[in-house]
Amino acid sequence: MNNLKVPEGKIEKNNGRNELVEKIVSLSKRRGFVFQSSEIYGGLNGCWDYGPMGVELLKNIKEEWWKFMTFRDDIEGLDASILMHPKVWEASGHVENFTDPMIDCRSCKSRYRLDTLSELINEKKMKKAVDAVKEKILGNAKLSHRYEEIAAETVNDPDPLKETFDIMLDDKELSELLLSELNCPQCGNKNTFTSARQFNLMFKTFIGSVEDSSAVVYLRPETAQGIFVNFLNVQSSSRQKVPFGIAQIGKAFRNEINTKNFLFRTREFEQMEMQFFVKPGDDKKWYDFWKEQRLDWYASLGMERKKLRYHDHPKEKLAHYAKEATDIEYEFPFGWGEIEGIHNRTDFDLRRHEEFSGKSMKYFDEEAKDKYLPYIIETSAGASRSFMAYLIDAYYEEEVKGEMRSVLRFHPKLAPNKVAIFPLVNKDGMPDISRNIEKELRRNFKVFYDDKGAVGRRYRRQDEAGTPFCVTVDTQTLTDNTVTVRERDTMLQERISIDKLSMYFFDKLR
Ligand code: GAP
Repeated sequence: MNNLKVPEGKIEKNNGRNELVEKIVSLSKRRGFVFQSSEIYGGLNGCWDYGPMGVELLKNIKEEWWKFMTFRDDIEGLDASILMHPKVWEASGHVENFTDPMIDCRSCKSRYRLDTLSELINEKKMKKAVDAVKEKILGNAKLSHRYEEIAAETVNDPDPLKETFDIMLDDKELSELLLSELNCPQCGNKNTFTSARQFNLMFKTFIGSVEDSSAVVYLRPETAQGIFVNFLNVQSSSRQKVPFGIAQIGKAFRNEINTKNFLFRTREFEQMEMQFFVKPGDDKKWYDFWKEQRLDWYASLGMERKKLRYHDHPKEKLAHYAKEATDIEYEFPFGWGEIEGIHNRTDFDLRRHEEFSGKSMKYFDEEAKDKYLPYIIETSAGASRSFMAYLIDAYYEEEVKGEMRSVLRFHPKLAPNKVAIFPLVNKDGMPDISRNIEKELRRNFKVFYDDKGAVGRRYRRQDEAGTPFCVTVDTQTLTDNTVTVRERDTMLQERISIDKLSMYFFDKLR
């Protein structure tokens, strides 16, 4: 960010797991980043509100993404509506396939996703339940054989017990037996689970005045489909030639069964998606290109590179529409988690929309006089999930002169406020000079004025909000028109002439 040196002192990343998430949740509320939705009514599960600091950080993340993705000559922007024709979701496969297997506890009514149940059960209990099922099926040749097959399949897995448990839950008959041996993680009662049912994650509503099945529409579960159905509109109006992309930022909604880990899995969230249309045969080249570009983007905005990695999907686990896929993962305090998915979606989406709408979705290559369905390389990032990753990544606690300070070391481009301005005391003309500086800097930067309390405490408040620079008007200002500029991470101070402040910050905040 700048060439000032970090002072001596203990600078540590807090390594506690959920303790760190709890600290971030509490800081988020205290400093106005994120509030629970409808808090005064007890909150609404899986929904969050972005406060004055949060809305700036989120906006800055989206703005940086938009610049990176669309400030090029081969990507156009789009803002499609959230409600779309219901056939879109039949063509996309969401009506049929966008489901999670779910079980309920008959006793306490808690609901769980079957495919993530193992995360809530400790190893001892898992082993006890698997052993009990093994006993029960001793006289049943078919189920015993099935169990042996699973055990052989998982023997070389890093966690064979968990893998065996997960595969057993996936098998209709073994699943029933296994569930009957388990205790509900919430109320602790045994044998209270219902059988698994498929649960569609799309929110349904009605369009118009009649609430019947002909009026059903869905809140979009992804922004991608708005891009696919507009492919030819954008291509012909912008006169783009394949390869080119369409980018969009917008809200998506999923009725997630388990919302968890703060902003990681929510029911309402924002996506930043780009679909890149390429000639079949060129898909691998572009897939590799975007895979690299997208991870670099997170690192370029200050995210620690060693906390980023790819998780390539093995062939047998690819989504039905994908030829190749990877997740960009960030190491959250609760483990590695996906922040962005990159897919080679082949021509699946355009082919399906052609089939369901009866309209051609083919691209005409004028030079080659060739008509074809392009392949699509998708980069699909969560704005809210990236927000959480950036927030966690920026959070440091460090000891300064025997006192602890918490600081958000945001990249200057992401920081909600860029500069805070303080009069040292509220007299001797210092407030007037400070207000003039505020007015001048506000023309170009988001700034904050604070005249409350000791300067040291004002610095701490800004550190916790991630403001990269603080300007203090002090006694020396009255004689030489210079101010103290203090940098957040190094805490080093230098004197800058008031008339050079704008240029100074233009340079530092680039
Ligand atoms: N169009 C492809 C698609 O939607 P996805 O993997 O389901 O793919 C892409 O979602 C990204 O959207 C994820 O990497 C994540 O960042 C974000 N995302 C998905 N579900 C989310 C949820 N429930 N809460 C917050 N972010 C979510």
